[in-house]
Amino acid sequence: MAEHITDITNSLHEHHVAEDELLWPLLLERATPAADVVHRMEKQHEVLHTLLQELDELTPSWRATAAETDRDALAELVSRTSAVIDEHLQDEEAHVMPLIEQHVSQEEWLAFELAGHASIPQEKALLFLGLGLEDATPHEHEMFVGGLPPEVVEMWEQFGKAEYDRQRAILLVTPDLTYQLTRLHWPVEGIHWPV
Ligand SMILES: [Fe+2]
Repeated sequence: MAEHITDITNSLHEHHVAEDELLWPLLLERATPAADVVHRMEKQHEVLHTLLQELDELTPSWRATAAETDRDALAELVSRTSAVIDEHLQDEEAHVMPLIEQHVSQEEWLAFELAGHASIPQEKALLFLGLGLEDATPHEHEMFVGGLPPEVVEMWEQFGKAEYDRQRAILLVTPDLTYQLTRLHWPVEGIHWPV
């Protein structure tokens, strides 16, 4: 669980840095009337940066001791971070994606995506693919998988999906807990977390 939290915080951090460095400057230059939207995103990233840093500090101490107080503090922090991320993502989808479609070229978008993926260790690439597909609608699934190289699709089908399901089951602990793995949604109370 601790490793999973760290993987997610690292990838979110890299994703935000990629947006800050590669997308916001383009939008500020090309979508001038929407500068307030971009500045709002920058502020939200600052808030998230602080929360992710707190998670990076608390996770190892909970991992080291499995102390109840650390566990409860971490669960509360995960829930709070999750709420802020949800709000931020909804804001981005509603107000930033239309600007990107209008002002960012496909090449620039690909460069951004590559930069955001740089933090994912190679051995965890298929796990992150599974996380990406976790909440996808059938249409999104088709679009996403359809854009992958055939050899990656083959690896995913041959062993990636089974490995993802195995790791997911470890994180789920019990079937009645409704974790949302991609968005750091974990219930605060009544958890017996495996460190
Ligand atoms: Fe963002």
